[in-house]
Amino acid sequence: MPADQELAGRTALVTGAGRGIGEAVARALVARGARVVATDLAPEGVGKLAQEYAGRLTARTLDVTDAGAVEALVAETEDTLGPLDITVNVAGILRSSSVVELTDEDWAATFDVNTHGVFHVSRAVARRMAERGSGSVVTVASNAAGVPRMGMSAYAASKAAAVMFTKCLGLEVAARGVRCNTVSPGSTLTDMQRALWTASDAEGEEAAARRVVAGDLATHRTGIPLGRIADPDDIAEAVAFLASDRARHITMHDLYVDGGATLRA
Ligand SMILES: NC(=O)c1ccc[n+]([C@@H]2O[C@H](COP(=O)([O-])OP(=O)(O)OC[C@H]3O[C@@H](n4cnc5c(N)ncnc54)[C@H](O)[C@@H]3O)[C@@H](O)[C@H]2O)c1
Repeated sequence: MPADQELAGRTALVTGAGRGIGEAVARALVARGARVVATDLAPEGVGKLAQEYAGRLTARTLDVTDAGAVEALVAETEDTLGPLDITVNVAGILRSSSVVELTDEDWAATFDVNTHGVFHVSRAVARRMAERGSGSVVTVASNAAGVPRMGMSAYAASKAAAVMFTKCLGLEVAARGVRCNTVSPGSTLTDMQRALWTASDAEGEEAAARRVVAGDLATHRTGIPLGRIADPDDIAEAVAFLASDRARHITMHDLYVDGGATLRA
């Protein structure tokens, strides 16, 4: 089977698909032949994708923090398009703050999207996949889930919870033919990354990117050994692999795509 058609006949749900990594994942799955339901809180990005990939990609607004809306969308998708074979949790938010200044609202909002959202979506699809005896769930977490970072406690904790949740789910549904894995990106060139830079760097994007690659002893960041910030496509490639039959014997795995930034220590 040529790699460009390895997902032909499969239906995939992607959250947070309106821009950045989620958009790249939606594009990668369509390129491999999947029929994609691209969802996001905001309608614009997924709407543009639906125009570009008419007949191959359907756009829907979905707030992953709303368990009822998630359940309704999954049910409607399966009624209209057929069984979901692949689901990718990409929706996420990052609110930076030191712990002593972190508000209850920021802590709760972070967990609502990054952890509860992953739970809502994964529960809705895993139940149906397990009944049918096949399926693949991939959750995009973060390398911050494995390494302490300044100003990122809520984000890192919410992602660590999402990783362990996905592994536990993977264990529960393995005997029913469903695989559950995570992809943990390092710094990736998206709006989320740029927002971090404008918050902390007055010197512009290129200089900020160089600093990320070089690392910073003052904040205990190691830098990126491979010498570049990831493109969203780098992350989408790993997601597409884990979603495909090429990864048929891989489950409960956490695949780091961070250019070596965490030294995998
Ligand atoms: N960019 C990075 O450096 C980086 C690094 C590690 C992990 N990640 C993770 O990758 C994922 C994608 O990040 P990105 O950089 O593309 O971010 P982004 O901010 O560019 O895009 C995130 C998308 O998620 C959507 N979203 C936010 N809240 C939502 C909700 N409640 N329901 C549905 N959709 C919602 C947004 O509308 C947006 O389209 C996130 O989970 C993020 O934590 C990103």
